[in-house]
Amino acid sequence: MKLSEKLAILEEEEHRARSGASDQPLSRRRPVNSRSKRSNGHWDANKRKVLDLVREEMAPRMAGLSGQALTTEVKDVLDRILQREDVQVSPMERRKFVRELIQDALGYGPLDPLLQDPAVTEIMCNAFDDIWVEREGRVHPTDGAFTDDVQYRQVIEKIVSAVGRRIDESSPMVDARLPDGSRVNAIMPPLAIHGSVLTIRKFAADPFEAKDLINFGTWTMDLALVLEACVRGKLNVLVSGGTGTGKTTNLNVLSSFIPEGERVITIEDSAELQLQQPHVVNLEARPPNAEGKGEVRIRDLVKNSLRMRPDRIIVGEVRGGEALDMLQAMNTGHEGSMTTVHANTPRDALSRLETMVLMAGYDLPIRAIREQIVSALHLIVQVGRMPDGRRVVTTVTEVQGLEGDVVLLQDIFHYRMLPSEGSKTSGSLVATGLRPKLIDRLEAQGIEVPAKVFRPPAPTPAHHSPGRRARVPSARDLAEPERSR
Ligand SMILES: Nc1ncnc2c1ncn2[C@@H]1O[C@H](COP(=O)(O)OP(=O)(O)OP(=O)(O)O)[C@@H](O)[C@H]1O
Ligand SMILES: [Mg+2]
Repeated sequence: MKLSEKLAILEEEEHRARSGASDQPLSRRRPVNSRSKRSNGHWDANKRKVLDLVREEMAPRMAGLSGQALTTEVKDVLDRILQREDVQVSPMERRKFVRELIQDALGYGPLDPLLQDPAVTEIMCNAFDDIWVEREGRVHPTDGAFTDDVQYRQVIEKIVSAVGRRIDESSPMVDARLPDGSRVNAIMPPLAIHGSVLTIRKFAADPFEAKDLINFGTWTMDLALVLEACVRGKLNVLVSGGTGTGKTTNLNVLSSFIPEGERVITIEDSAELQLQQPHVVNLEARPPNAEGKGEVRIRDLVKNSLRMRPDRIIVGEVRGGEALDMLQAMNTGHEGSMTTVHANTPRDALSRLETMVLMAGYDLPIRAIREQIVSALHLIVQVGRMPDGRRVVTTVTEVQGLEGDVVLLQDIFHYRMLPSEGSKTSGSLVATGLRPKLIDRLEAQGIEVPAKVFRPPAPTPAHHSPGRRARVPSARDLAEPERSR
């Protein structure tokens, strides 16, 4: 049978399936998307059908092939099908056809160009034809689309099954990873009301280093010097920030300062940290299976890691009772440990920690929890995203101690906004002028930090000129540690 005849039959079948699909109750259907880009219906229908034929022909030969060999084989089969059958496509279209088919057969369809684009940091698919991306910290819609819901579901299943998990009505929420390390979350109906949603967090092919963060304006040279000294000096550091602000990235760069000889254990929900040291053990938590069994929580891994002779423990993010185990580890010989927490200010981060410690299930008095926090934590690095999409460190705060029931926090660096010009905001991270107490601890270990890094910058003439007034810390800000609560 010629391809045209096969296409006609498949088209007829699809038509019948579509009329059946329109019988489903209105409430289950996704609202009409005003941005829908299904203008290329014929092209997509053909592509889908040729792809089915390629798959059919390839199936017996797929086993044992991978990488380049598989690509070549798919190309050959496709060429044969296009030559043998009577597909009417121009040379330009043919090339596009081949490229898209290979993307569909071997990769992730319309996600491939986005995955390869280094400027894209996040991909969000709300439906097969509704794909958004984040570039330079801002979210934009794209023209890309899967051929249809079937292809969209196939790609989701391909990603999820590659890490030995499955997605279906009984387990409709899955975390996974792409081979390049990108973090994937998929959620499907009935939890996602209007259809499956796929969110991919990409990471730079080469993990960011301190010099990258300095170039992006996230860190300053002075901050890098201080943080490097703090990590080498085994201070316990908490990175705090909102969603997607760069917590994991900052944690990764901080971890790069850990001296090579130390045994580091990383613990995460879904492995994202990319430590370069030779002596690193990576542990990953496991969700329960479809029967609700087999769950291994971050908390279990933190406890287990204590029996693995760690020098330092790095927990990707604390969200629950593991906060208590982490604080205890920091207090009992695993100094230099680090983690992140989802919070908008250093003060919020402390409140979150307190709540999480209570989630561990012990009826601890609040003062006892604060004592644990104060003796465990030395430094809070707060990160944030500016309105223009830049990710910056907004404050670096020292945890100084307890006064009564109040935790004393002292900012060492803070982000100072400069007057905006048009829609552009600018600013920089500057020292508050206060010498942190942790310097004594570092000096006791022979680690020197030049005093000049803690000096605030001299005001520039621009700051005095009328109409260009910068927000500078008041004398009171500089004189007193923060006490309010
Ligand atoms: N300083 C930075 N400059 C530019 N891009 C950055 C910076 N920090 C992180 N990114 C990028 O932003 C995205 C989010 O970063 P990251 O995963 O570290 O954030 P997060 O706060 O840990 O997010 P989540 O709350 O989802 O865990 C990533 O794609 C990362 O490559
Ligand atoms: Mg993170």
